[in-house]
Amino acid sequence: MGTGAAIPLADKSIPFLGHALPLLRDPLGFMSSLPDHGSLVTMRMGPLSVVMVCDPELARQVLLDDRTYDMGGPVFDRARESVGGGLGTCPHSEHRRQRRLCQPAFHRSRMPAYATVMSSACDAMTTTWQDGQTIDLSAEAAAMALRVNVESMFATALPRVAQDVADDFVALSRSVFWRIIMPPLINRLPTPVNRRYFRARKRLFHTVGQIIAARRQDTTDHGDLLSSLMSAQDPDSEAGSRGLSDREITEQVLTFFFAGAETTAATLAWALYQVSRHPHIEQRLQAEVDEVVGDGPATHDHLPRLPLTERVITETLRLYAPAWLGSRIVAHDTELGGYHLPAGTQMVWSPYLIHRRPDIYKNVDGFDPDRWLHTKAEREAYFPFGAGARKCIADRFALNTAILSLATISARWTLRPVTDEPFKPVVRTLLVPHGLRMRLAPRARVTA
Ligand code: HEM
Repeated sequence: MGTGAAIPLADKSIPFLGHALPLLRDPLGFMSSLPDHGSLVTMRMGPLSVVMVCDPELARQVLLDDRTYDMGGPVFDRARESVGGGLGTCPHSEHRRQRRLCQPAFHRSRMPAYATVMSSACDAMTTTWQDGQTIDLSAEAAAMALRVNVESMFATALPRVAQDVADDFVALSRSVFWRIIMPPLINRLPTPVNRRYFRARKRLFHTVGQIIAARRQDTTDHGDLLSSLMSAQDPDSEAGSRGLSDREITEQVLTFFFAGAETTAATLAWALYQVSRHPHIEQRLQAEVDEVVGDGPATHDHLPRLPLTERVITETLRLYAPAWLGSRIVAHDTELGGYHLPAGTQMVWSPYLIHRRPDIYKNVDGFDPDRWLHTKAEREAYFPFGAGARKCIADRFALNTAILSLATISARWTLRPVTDEPFKPVVRTLLVPHGLRMRLAPRARVTA
């Protein structure tokens, strides 16, 4: 193929809205159909043309070269509009400084302290559950993950603030996908959705800004994520910008909430759902946690002895990568997979699309944690946390939360969906199982 060839256009584009309708009605089905057109495929989001990278090797090239494929494009623009220019939403030119300043907060040495927060949040959640109760699993997991985030960040339980932050995040994240795929004109109209969005964003900045201002008055090191961000110094930056300003810290905190709570909660909820539908895996998982964790809660010391629990999470992140759509912008003319890409080309990539390619994964829609015992080739096409310099800074933090929570819950409770119908999520910015209802039964060892 020559570099002058046009990138194929996906089916079902209509004037003005482009592919907004299939993206709203059945985004996952639509995405999964794209590789049939080739390794790169053009989609239209309103008036905007974006190029989807369908091939894992090309996706890797894009993710590893963050100078050529800078953070940008529709997902980035709307995320930046929501949470400001923090680590996840800053361009390449600001990224290295921000990453160096945030990295210490996620250093391996800090993980045991965060794990204590994770264990106690999951312990608290599972001890309020009742025999025979039906729960909205996605909502329970989201409340727990938010608590983990808030307490790791602020070293304290802040019930009122946590509730405000939670409500505003729900409002914000529900609107963001809509804002990504709709034309900008519609996003500016004073519709109820848009008004809710702007109100929630304003309150969030105010709430977090107040916490930071209060912390500036207090010089104690709380050993939390916020202390780490406030004390971080980057010797490679110019004098005057070696630390993070209050505005930058606010944006980082909002980025961590935005990027962290719902993604981790979705992983846990999807994992429990899949386990409940695969009794042979459930039995083996229960045997592992019974031996290692007992009645729980699972702690940081248990982590190396929970290999099946970890594989269940790995496989869940293959089937249901919560951050299922990312975007980039081409910084200067380049070539990819034989196609010419002019500067300014908007790109999107999707771990969901790549993880569901039947030519890469055998039994692609099957839930098989044991596939991760021996596969190397499949790992090369596995990007739930992205890759390269922009790879998720909190991948270990997120995995530990999901593994410890899955182990603690499995040690104490058996969960069953309230219906045999397969659960179909409504997909938005993230792939979250909103409204997944499960019935609880205590494990025999708890009641014994
Ligand atoms: C299972 C849970 C999680 C998943 C699946 C996930 C996924 C991702 C992905 C795919 C990216 C890269 C996006 C791109 O390159 O376009 C990313 C970046 C990021 N994530 Fe996560 N994430 C998770 C949890 C978290 C948590 C718990 C936090 C914070 C507490 C967090 C903070 C971030 C940040 C700050 C970035 C931007 C990194 C950079 O650009 O340097 N994530 N995440």
